[in-house]
Order: sequence, then structure tokens, then C-alpha cells
Amino acid sequence: MNIVDIIEKKRRKETLNFDEIKFAIEGFINGDIPDYQMSALLMAITINGMTKEETFNLTEVMINSGDVISFEDVPGAVVDKHSTGGVGDKVTLVLAPLLASLGIKIAKLSGRGLGFTGGTIDKLESIEGFDVNLSIEQIKAQVNDINIAIAGHTGNIDPADKKIYALRDVTATVESIPLIASSIMSKKIAMGSDMIVIDLKVGAGALMKDLDSARELANLMIEIGKKYNKPTVCVLSSMNEPLGNAVGNSLEVLESIKTLRGNGPSDLLELVMLLACIVIMPIKKVDVDEARTMVFNELNNNKAYKKFLEFVKYQGGNLNKIKISDKVISIRSDKSGYVNGIDALKIGEISVNLGAGRIKKEDSIDYTVGLVLSKKVGDRVEVNDELAKVYVGKKDISINEVKNCFLIEDELIIKEPLVYEIIK
Ligand code: URA
Repeated sequence: MNIVDIIEKKRRKETLNFDEIKFAIEGFINGDIPDYQMSALLMAITINGMTKEETFNLTEVMINSGDVISFEDVPGAVVDKHSTGGVGDKVTLVLAPLLASLGIKIAKLSGRGLGFTGGTIDKLESIEGFDVNLSIEQIKAQVNDINIAIAGHTGNIDPADKKIYALRDVTATVESIPLIASSIMSKKIAMGSDMIVIDLKVGAGALMKDLDSARELANLMIEIGKKYNKPTVCVLSSMNEPLGNAVGNSLEVLESIKTLRGNGPSDLLELVMLLACIVIMPIKKVDVDEARTMVFNELNNNKAYKKFLEFVKYQGGNLNKIKISDKVISIRSDKSGYVNGIDALKIGEISVNLGAGRIKKEDSIDYTVGLVLSKKVGDRVEVNDELAKVYVGKKDISINEVKNCFLIEDELIIKEPLVYEIIK
């Protein structure tokens, strides 16, 4: 077998068989196939697509490229949650301790932010001392002890995805549906959880720009889940404005704490509530009203918050030392009207430029910077009202650039729903 023939076959839009896919992926991991040949193959796949069978085979090869965790010796169902990435998306920081405090086990590998979306691992690392480098044994022990563990993509779980994703990121091959489906599902299946919930973001600030492609991706991931007997639910949610108000690492941790104490922004709370109910109903065998009541109680009696404190302490973090910048610029509106849109992509980029994210992988992060939106879509604005607070560090911002993220018009346009559909 030879890699040039495999690339050529895909370039001619032919179907690759299991052995060819295995040859390409294994050869790439062990260094026999260089980046430039893998890049060519990824580009051919991005342009010409993959059949379902090819996507299943690619997923299988990726799962088996490293270790696969088994939670068989840990009693109770273990849940994994994934977001395809958004701006201000701190759902995991709220949902995971909430479920854990209800006795539901959650084990999760999370990523760092790259580009305009933030990553859960960066947010957790804004808490001084928080250790994201857990071994498989540590993850299992922690899930057994306190029901929750969140680690970085370390160890030897799905090394194929780690290496391929890094290449996709710099070769314009991230947006391929079969590549995204196999990337997400291979990691989730290798993590060994019993149920997978995916928050699939749709809109300008998301990987999937429209509902049709989001549906295609969701259905493909659900089919992969079925093959491995892992019930998978996809929630298609809007990323047409940042989620919640805070964008930036420490700021998002603080907003998550507020939410865990029953005081969070309504859109964040709505999404957390929905995702939590999807998990709670089958595991606790309750209906939606009972599940909602459980969530309300957990948030309003501080139990979810206490679980968060326990989780942070277990992984070495010290919340007393969380810092936000004390250099704050208030951005005020020049006009009156209604906020009909907030450009999530631009807000994400401004946050990255402030230092909250990386432009290159090796960049370091300023955890203290970011933005807090004072107005959200649907709000009325008068001249000189505050639109946002910007927490600035070493890098400057353009006030107009922030202002221009807000679409303010005379008439209020009916707000799009936060959740478009649930597919399972
Ligand atoms: N998230 C992933 O884990 N993989 C992708 O390919 C895209 C988003």
C-alpha cells in the first residue's frame, strides 16, 4: 500500500477501504507519513467528502490509536458532554458540577481555546493551581470519589485526533463534516462514558454556520454513537450572540460561579437547564418537570456550587486567587434603539486580541482580560447607556470596534430561539 495512491484515490472521489484509512492514520502517527501528505489527504477529504462507511472506519481507527478508558469498575452511569465551541461558552463549568452534585458521574476531556472560541481548560487554568494533567487512573479515581473530573487532552487517549486536529487547524480542513464527526466521537468513545451529550453550536460565531450542516453533523455523530452503543443526543443551539455576558477566562469562571449560585444570565441558565434535563431524565428515570425541579433545587440551595468548590479543590485550584484586570473601560452607545444582534465572532476576536486567547499555539494567555456585555440581544438601549465593560491588560482595544459589534436598530426584531432543535 502506498500513501500517494490513497491520496489520489480520494482526489478522484473514490471510496477508501478500512485498510487504506488505517494505513494512512497509523503511518501518520508513527511518523512514516509526513505532514504534507496527510495535509493533502485531509484536503481531498474536505473537498470530496467521505461516505458513512468511511467515516465509521476512520472513527474506529482513531479510537484504537491510543488507550480506551473503561468505567466498568466505577458504579453508575458516566456521562460526557461536548461543545463544538462558542464565544462565552462556559456551560461545562456549570453543568458538570451540577450533574455531579446530583450523583451523576461526569468524566470529560476538554480542550484549550484556539482561534476565536475559548477552551474549558484555559478557563480552569485561570484558577491558580488548577491541575488539568490527569492520568487515566486519576480520572477514574476522582470520578469514583467526587463524581466529576475534567482533564486536558493528555495521556494516550486518541493520539490520532490530537495530531490530525493540529494539522487541520493550519490547513483550512477543520470544517469537514466527516472529519469533525470522527474527531469528536472518537474522543468521546475512547473516554468510555455511557452517554454523550453534544452542544452543537450554529451561527456566525460557530463552526457550523447553518442549520442544514449542523443537522447533517448531528445525525452522523448519533449514528456513530449507535454503532458503539453510546446513546448520543445533539442540542443545536444558537451562537448568534455570545452565551451569557462574560467572555474571557477568569471573567467566565466568575460568571459560572454566579450561575451555580442561582444568579446566572438567563440564556446560560436556559441551556444548562436543557442539557441537564436531557441527562437527568433517562438516568434518574424522571419526567421533565421533575428534572427541572431537581436542577432548580441544586442551583438554589448551593449544592451545585459546593460541588464546584470540591471539584476545584480536588484538582488543586485556589479560587481565592482568581484575578481580573482592574483596568476597565466602559463602552457606551452613541444611539438609542434595540439590540438586534451582537457579533459573537468579532467579540471572540476582540477577546483573543486582548490576550484572553491564542493566535498561535505557543502564545501565553492573560487570564485577567475580556469583556462583560451589559446589553444582550433584545435589550432596549438609550444614548450613553453602557454596552459592555472591557477588562484590559497589556494590549489596547479600539472602542469603536467593540461598539460596532452591537447592531442597534429602531425596531425590535423577534429574537431567534437559543435552542433550534434536539436530535437523538
Ligand atoms: N471539535 C473537535 O473536537 N473536533 C473537531 O473537528 C471540531 C470541533
